[in-house]
Amino acid sequence: MAIKHFLQLSDFTLDEFEHVIERAHIIKRRYKNYEKYHPLVDRTLVMVFEKSSTRTRLSFEAGMQQLGGNSIYINTQDSQLGRGEPVEDAAQVMSRMSDIIMVRTFGQEIIERFASHSRVPVINGLTNEHHPCQVLADVFTFIEHRGSIKGKAVAWVGDANNMLYSWLQAAEIFDFHVNVSTPKGYDIDMNLVTPGNTHFTRFEKPADACVGAHLVTTDVWTSMGFEAENDERLKAFDGWCIDSEKMKLAAPNAVFMHCLPAHRGEEVTGDVIDGPQSVVWDEAENRLHVQKALIEYLLLGKVKE
Ligand code: CP
Ligand code: NVA
Repeated sequence: MAIKHFLQLSDFTLDEFEHVIERAHIIKRRYKNYEKYHPLVDRTLVMVFEKSSTRTRLSFEAGMQQLGGNSIYINTQDSQLGRGEPVEDAAQVMSRMSDIIMVRTFGQEIIERFASHSRVPVINGLTNEHHPCQVLADVFTFIEHRGSIKGKAVAWVGDANNMLYSWLQAAEIFDFHVNVSTPKGYDIDMNLVTPGNTHFTRFEKPADACVGAHLVTTDVWTSMGFEAENDERLKAFDGWCIDSEKMKLAAPNAVFMHCLPAHRGEEVTGDVIDGPQSVVWDEAENRLHVQKALIEYLLLGKVKE
């Protein structure tokens, strides 16, 4: 059987996502009921981190353990990756000693090279271009709170970063629309958008992107790897903060999401992220449940039980 990787959302069909989401609901409910589910006894997840993480590490490590398996954490500094071992060689070796691998790295081409030399499925735990596990968790969270996301409007106010590019792919797959507002000079890189994607509209003014939205979301203005640009970004993004005025323009029952970590007073005000429309803690928790369903699918196929 050909190995299946999850390097960006476009690697899966809607049918596959519907299965994973259905399983995530079941796995979550059973876990909350203390029902043991250990299909992955003796199986090992390797987690490669070339950037920092709290949620991604926690959710993959806890998730693998809850499925009966185990995980190994590797970072650049403490491994031979930091001393120049080629990713192709690392992928060969790691995939001989494990059953599934999660990689958080810089360029998407790095994880693609890694995956092409891996004998086991590779999951993207964030690259500069994509964050598919997070957006999958976000879609799941929306469905939990508001039902189907099909036909809904998502407002993206902020940087054109990995989260946005994954949202744009999700919009095509799940058939919803993204209203995007990024400051001048931080526009969408169309090379990272599927040609012919009609599921987004660009707005010059951030407030206009929020009008009527069912989900308002943003992310840090400076992503990992871009720290040197922080000061100029702080100036360029002035006005792109999600505040209560912008939330008032959204649909009355709109939810607010942020993948976290957040900077209160920069991309979002404290009253919004800590307010009644925010679902950020459910969103963070759901990384655990959807990734357990994702690992199950990549290793065991369409489990029905
Ligand atoms: N949202 C997210 O991926 O968080 P971490 O960087 O903490 O993993
Ligand atoms: N866009 C952010 C997401 C962090 C989870 C980054 O890449 O740093």
